[in-house]
Amino acid sequence: MSGEIRRVAVVGTGVIGASWAALFLARGLDVVASDPAPGAEERLRAAVAGFWPALAPVEGATPDRLEFSADAAAAAECADFVQENGPEREDVKLALFAALDAAARPDVVLASSSSTLLPSLIARGCARHPERVVVGHPFNPPHVIPLVEVVPGECTSEDAVERATAFYTAAGKRPIRLRAELRGHVANRLQAALWREAYSLVERGVASVADIDVAISHGPGLRWAVLGPFVNQHLSGGPGGLAHVLAHLGPPIAEIWRELGDPELTPELGDRLVAGVAEELAGLDLDRLVADRDAVLRTLLAAKAGTDLP
Ligand SMILES: NC(=O)c1ccc[n+]([C@@H]2O[C@H](COP(=O)([O-])OP(=O)(O)OC[C@H]3O[C@@H](n4cnc5c(N)ncnc54)[C@H](O)[C@@H]3O)[C@@H](O)[C@H]2O)c1
Repeated sequence: MSGEIRRVAVVGTGVIGASWAALFLARGLDVVASDPAPGAEERLRAAVAGFWPALAPVEGATPDRLEFSADAAAAAECADFVQENGPEREDVKLALFAALDAAARPDVVLASSSSTLLPSLIARGCARHPERVVVGHPFNPPHVIPLVEVVPGECTSEDAVERATAFYTAAGKRPIRLRAELRGHVANRLQAALWREAYSLVERGVASVADIDVAISHGPGLRWAVLGPFVNQHLSGGPGGLAHVLAHLGPPIAEIWRELGDPELTPELGDRLVAGVAEELAGLDLDRLVADRDAVLRTLLAAKAGTDLP
């Protein structure tokens, strides 16, 4: 059904769209971007130029293969794949998908980066071919973090899921396929579970914001960047693996679940969290922090690429 994907429409070029555009250009694709905001084209070109030195462009890739159109439908009309990154508002997404569906060739997958809207809802905007709508949810910034969650809606075809997954893989991403639509998909729900307990620990005065950050970034977070929570647990069971862990630590873990916090996100708790982060970062330069974080991430990703880690 589908031909080769050479030209990608990136619709909405804010934080996420600009990063997707840089990634697709670095993979040697043509990108036609669209955003109605005044000055959007200049901001996008500046963002891509800023990301470019950190990317590893394939031969022939160049930021010059970026075109811009103020009209989303015009961008979709000539694209082989559409990645939508407009504002996270139901009314905007529905109107945008109606226009994209009317303009794009019937075999073109329409993927939304939406973090919280479900694909079945987004597809309601599409009168012609709702079966080609998926959520393709990246992690910020998509030009650095490999994960993309592919989420089909009620009427999404298997073909659209497969084509989206194959496209992301070819673009150097690490897609996973979800089998149900849930607000927050999978990765943000996992983060939300951790934040819930972290907020609760601060609320209860168990540890400071800075110490909770250290507990993750100098502790289990290091292992989680290498292997997922289940394989890490398996490895912590010695020769008996996960089966042994479950037999011996399962009951106490289940007891802890029953005691986990359920914090109320009051303005007072918010103030304590904000003050805690300010104290943790006092005297540090934020731009430098972001640059150091991304440099360490790139080193880690390069090291992982040379292994058989799953
Ligand atoms: N920021 C994140 O961490 C993150 C992570 C993953 C996914 N997402 C998702 O990505 C999408 C974009 O988020 P963002 O953080 O880049 O937001 P953003 O506000 O930075 O960008 C949204 C862009 O959409 C443009 N826009 C407005 N109306 C439009 C229209 N009709 N057509 C095309 N573009 C339009 C705006 O001008 C703006 O540039 C959202 O759906 C969000 O849920 C965000």
